[in-house]
Amino acid sequence: CFVKCGKVTLFPAFIAYHWHKFILLSLSLSLTPCSLNSQSSVLPDVAEGVATQADIPPLDTAWAESQRKKALLKLEKLDTDLKNYKGNSIKESIRRGHDDLGDHYLDCGDLSNALKCYSRARDYCTSSKHVVNMCLNVIKVSVYLQNWSHVLSYVSKAETTPEIAERGDRDSQQMAVVTRLKCAAGLAELATKKYKQAAKFFLQASFDHCDFPEMLSPNNVAVYGGLCALATFDRQELQRNIISSR
Ligand SMILES: *[C@@H]1O[C@H](CO)[C@@H](O)[C@H](O)[C@H]1NC(C)=O
Repeated sequence: CFVKCGKVTLFPAFIAYHWHKFILLSLSLSLTPCSLNSQSSVLPDVAEGVATQADIPPLDTAWAESQRKKALLKLEKLDTDLKNYKGNSIKESIRRGHDDLGDHYLDCGDLSNALKCYSRARDYCTSSKHVVNMCLNVIKVSVYLQNWSHVLSYVSKAETTPEIAERGDRDSQQMAVVTRLKCAAGLAELATKKYKQAAKFFLQASFDHCDFPEMLSPNNVAVYGGLCALATFDRQELQRNIISSR
């Protein structure tokens, strides 16, 4: 199975659902039978992956309880830290405090509280890098929550910061951020069936800076981008956007 997403089990099902659509799409495009076969063989694999989750061993309750206690202790510590930072009114510490709390909630699988904490960091951003970081955190959780409008709105928010909006030479860290934003937007458009928009976003991703396995693999980006483009671009668009740019 080519979907790697440790935290969210719904995700493979979601991809399988859309992958199924793509097979239909490719059928209507009459791709060669050979490539079609290799693609349709993916679906049973994914389905099997989902089905075998019924065979997972029973929960180790002692371990679960110790993890729960550990998590609770950590939560209390992070909460106290944040209160202290607020008492001292140092913006940067408060921002980090919210982020740390958000990371902790995310580790615990509490997505809605993670989203709240990451969003609260917004009031304490003092640079455009901080704003971009806040947007990336919110986007990550919104992808897990499958709130696609929220993903798109935070992608545009990040893209209007001077950090990202300024053209010119981008270092590799900025390229990675831009690529992550394009891929998140592509995924959101794909999920809401706007295949042409999805293609445009995926094609703006830089494969050399595509390193966020929790969301998409470079292979996903290439396949989704390619199929969306084939399905929705006319010949000239294909020529201009794919053949001449690669
Ligand atoms: C998505 O996020 C927005 C903004 O936080 C919220 O108003 C909306 O209810 C969310 N939608 C879903 C389906 O959760």
